[in-house]
Order: sequence, then C-alpha cells, then structure tokens
Amino acid sequence: MRVCVIGTGYVGLVTGACLAHIGHHVICVDNNEEKVKLMKSGQSPIYEPGLSEIMQAASEAGKLEFTSDLAAGVEHGEILFIAVGTPALPNGDSDTRYVEAVARGIGANLKGGYKVIVNKSTVPIGSGDWVRMIVLDGVAERQMSLVGAGGVSGEEATAKIAAEFDVVSNPEFLREGSAVYDTFNPDRIVLGSNSKRGIEMMQELYTPIVERQFAEDKSLPNVPVVVTDVNSAEMIKYAANAFLATKISFINEVANICDRVGGDITQVAKGIGLDSRIGNKFLQAGIGWGGSCFPKDVLALIHTADDYGYEAQLLKSTVSVNERQRAIAIEKL
Ligand SMILES: NC(=O)c1ccc[n+]([C@@H]2O[C@H](COP(=O)([O-])OP(=O)(O)OC[C@H]3O[C@@H](n4cnc5c(N)ncnc54)[C@H](O)[C@@H]3O)[C@@H](O)[C@H]2O)c1
Repeated sequence: MRVCVIGTGYVGLVTGACLAHIGHHVICVDNNEEKVKLMKSGQSPIYEPGLSEIMQAASEAGKLEFTSDLAAGVEHGEILFIAVGTPALPNGDSDTRYVEAVARGIGANLKGGYKVIVNKSTVPIGSGDWVRMIVLDGVAERQMSLVGAGGVSGEEATAKIAAEFDVVSNPEFLREGSAVYDTFNPDRIVLGSNSKRGIEMMQELYTPIVERQFAEDKSLPNVPVVVTDVNSAEMIKYAANAFLATKISFINEVANICDRVGGDITQVAKGIGLDSRIGNKFLQAGIGWGGSCFPKDVLALIHTADDYGYEAQLLKSTVSVNERQRAIAIEKL
C-alpha cells in the first residue's frame, strides 16, 4: 500500500521504516530539512536497535523515501499518518499545534481520491473530530484560493473531498530503545474510527504484523486488533500510560512503607507480581517514573478530566507520590 508518514521522530520514523520493511511504499515527510538530508543519506537521526539496517534495506529497495515536501507525501499516500510531537504545555494540556499544522497542510493538499488520515500522535480525547474539522479548513482555504484564481466552485469541491477521507486513531505503544522490536511484536493494535472503509484499509496495512510474519516468535497467535470508536482509542493510550505510572507509584508507596515496618520490597514485588492478575512488570521500586511520555500523558488525562468537571483523585496521587519519591531517593543518597 502507499503510505505517507508525517513527522519522523521516534514514532514516525520507526513506523515508516517498519511499514516499508513489510512491503509498503512509504514516504516520510518532515519539515526539519537537516533531518531529511540526514535520512536521505541513509543515516538515522535516532539510535534504535535494528532501525538503520531496516532503513537502508528499504531505501535501497525503493520502498522508503524522505522528503520535506508535504504535498508530494499527501499525493502519494492512500494512508497518511500524523506522527508529530504533542508536548505538554505549562498548564499540563497537550500542545496540539503541530498536529493542527499538519492536518491543515493535509487538507490544503487533498486533491481527490480516498485517503485515510491516521492520528498516531498522542492527542487529547476528542481530537478525531477536531482533526477532521481542521483538514476541512485546509481544504476550504485551498478552494478559496482557487476560486480567487477563477477555479472551481469552493463549497461543492470541499463537500466532495470531505466525503473522500476518514480519520482513524491508531495510538502508539512503542518504547524508546526497543521501538523496532515493539513494532513487529506488539501486544495489540488499536484502531478507532466510525468508518468501516478506513478500518479495513488499516487492517490490510497491518496484516503482516498481525500475522506475526516479522515477529520474533512467529508461532504465537495473531496480534489482537482492538477496533473502537475514535474517542475510546484515544483514551486507551492515556489510560495505558496512566495505569503503568500508577503501578510504579504504587510499588514505590509500598516500598516506603516497607522501609518503616521492615520488609524487603524486592521480595514483596516478586510475591505480588506472580499473581497473574497483577503481573510482574512495572513493579521495580526506585526513583519513580519519568521519560518523554508518562509525565505529559498522565497530566493531560488529569486536565481532560478537570475540563469535564471530574477530579481525577487517583491520578493526582500518582503524580504526587512520584514527585515525593524523587526527594526520598535523594535523601537516601
Ligand atoms: N517517543 C515515544 O516513545 C512515544 C511513544 C508513544 C507515543 N508517542 C507519541 O507520538 C507522537 C510523536 O512522538 P515522537 O517522540 O516521535 O516526537 P518527536 O518530537 O521525536 O518527533 C516529531 C517530528 O515531527 C516533526 N514535525 C513537527 N512539525 C512538523 C510538520 N508541520 N511537518 C512535518 N514534520 C513535523 C519534527 O521535526 C520531528 O522530527 C507524540 O504525540 C508522542 O506523545 C511517543
């Protein structure tokens, strides 16, 4: 299939390279010219085990290309991934300005022919409809400029293009440091949309991964594909990260109690982790959680809840326990 991935950070570059590796024809678009130049020369701007090899092989096979020309990418792709950053604003909300710029740019370059626009960026719940609206704004802006130049009737053309794209939410769960492995060996693939056609195209796109053709253990059953509405798919991403962060805050809280009552947190973690309902992952007590996603995603979920008049007490505690944990770790030095 013909794919365009817009934004070549951890998520976009790994997604683009892996989709090219499994046989799709991928154009990766980034507005950072230096990055594009580097990737065109066969180098990866990030280090991920296995990524350079995949990039080189797919580029040599003509399956993977890099450009800063959004119009060329949009024209090429039947499936257009938005994979730009959504960093936290100072108040904890997600900064969606990069997603907005890309959605508008896609709209301005849609010229007919069905497209699936896929949100791979972690975006606030409800962004599916918002992206659709921004894409249509982009379409309308372009039509205005064409009408101004004596072109076709704006409203008619916008309505026609509106019918020719769907938005799908496809949140990403890869971990930096094992991103290629995670892409070929996912626990699940989440697809959120109200469009049957869009979902079917995404299922076709991911078939080789779902069937584990590139997995480490090919004998495992197919990768589960969870098909939902857009909002639920967006929520799955936030809920997954919030749960994992809460698990870490939980074990740190238990560790602090262990310190006082006299207990070995390593043995306690082992003892509870063997319970299959709990599981042994994310039960290492330590300095707490951090990284590029947990802090911003947990805060964003708290803020979304606030916006809708709900106080997310447990998630607020997850954050405050984590903040206190750093101080405790420093005191112990
Ligand atoms: N990094 C992770 O481990 C991870 C995991 C899961 C989900 N996510 C989510 O995926 C999204 C992307 O994360 P990332 O870490 O890959 O981001 P990143 O900041 O590393 O990369 C974003 C890329 O988008 C490019 N870009 C920005 N605006 C653009 C535009 N208008 N046109 C073209 N390119 C543009 C930037 O130059 C950059 O290369 C975020 O929403 C993040 O929350 C990240």
